[in-house]
Amino acid sequence: MWEADYPSLLILLRVELEFLWLFSAHLKVEYNPHNLSILSFAILIFEPNFLFYFLSIMSPLVIERKISLKRIAHVYYTHADLEKAHQFLLDFGFSVTQQTADEIYYRGSGTEPFVYCTRRGSENTFGGAAFVVDSMEDLELATKQLPGASEIYESKAPGGGKCVTFHDPTDGFPFHLVYGQSPVEMTETFPELDYNFPTSKHRPVGKYQRFRKGPAPIHKLGHFGCCVTDFAKALEFYTTNFNFKPSDIVHDKGRDITAFCHLDRGDEMVDHHCFFFFEGPKFHVHHSSFEVHDFDIQLLGHNWLVQKGYENCWGVGRHVMGSQIFDYWYAPVTETLSVAD
Ligand SMILES: [Fe+2]
Repeated sequence: MWEADYPSLLILLRVELEFLWLFSAHLKVEYNPHNLSILSFAILIFEPNFLFYFLSIMSPLVIERKISLKRIAHVYYTHADLEKAHQFLLDFGFSVTQQTADEIYYRGSGTEPFVYCTRRGSENTFGGAAFVVDSMEDLELATKQLPGASEIYESKAPGGGKCVTFHDPTDGFPFHLVYGQSPVEMTETFPELDYNFPTSKHRPVGKYQRFRKGPAPIHKLGHFGCCVTDFAKALEFYTTNFNFKPSDIVHDKGRDITAFCHLDRGDEMVDHHCFFFFEGPKFHVHHSSFEVHDFDIQLLGHNWLVQKGYENCWGVGRHVMGSQIFDYWYAPVTETLSVAD
C-alpha cells in the first residue's frame, strides 16, 4: 500500500509559499485573485520542477483515497404490490427478520443481519445495493470524495451500523456503504455431501442423502448487476474510487461493454464478481443474485418455484466466465433474481 509523503508535501508547499512571498514583495504586487494567478503561472515558469514534484507527491494520495469495500451486504427494492412480492420472496428462499406494514427485511441463513429489503411504493424501483466498508475512515472519506454523498447516518435496519449513501454520477441510482453492523447467528447449516462418480466412489455404504422439498434457503447476497448508459465512465468511477477490479471484461467490435468486477482484497479469496455492469440505452437493474448451499438445494428450489407457477428466465445452468451454477427467475414484480453457487 502506498503512503502519502506528507512531510515532503509540507516542505515543498512552504518553499513555494516563501518563493511566492519574495516574488510578490519584489514586484510590489497586491494580493488579489488576478495577481495570484499571475504569480502561480510565474512559479511554473521559473520553477518548472514544481509541477513535477507536486504531482509526484500527490499521486500516492490519489491511490490511497480508494474506499475499501469488504463485502456486498444487501439490496433494496420498492414494490407497488408488496404482498405479491413478499410471497415470491418467501418462495424464493428468504426469511423475514423484521416487518412493518410497508417495509420488510429478509435475511439468509448466514451472518448478515439482512440481505434484502422491500418497501411499499407507487412503482417498482431498485433502491441500490450496500457494501460493507473496512473502517469508519472509509465512510468519512466517502462523504468527502464521492459526488453528492450523504453525511454519515445511523441505520435503522436490522443490525444497525452507520451508513453513507451516494448516487451513481451518470445514471443516478443509489449506492450504499455501511460500517459497524452487528452480525447475527447462522440459522441453518447443511452437510457437505459426498458425491459418487463412475470410477470413484466417495459416499460410504449405507449413508443416504435425504432432502426436504421447499424453497432453496438463501445463504447470502452474492452480486448485483445493472445496465449503465456510459460503460467507460462507470468503469473509471468504480475502479478509481473503490477496490473494484474487473475479473472479466467483455467487448463487442473492439469496444469494451461489460465488466464483471470482484473486490480486490489482496490474498483473501473473493467471488469472481460482486458487481457487474454493461452498457445500454437506459439504466436499469439487471438482477440481484443470492447464494445457496449446493446444487441439490438449488434444484429443489427450482422445482418449488416451478410448482408455484413462477416464470423461469434462464437455468439451471453454469456460467462460462465465473463458473457459477445459476438459475434466473422473473419475480412477478418486474425484477430478476437469481440463485447461484
Ligand atoms: Fe448473475
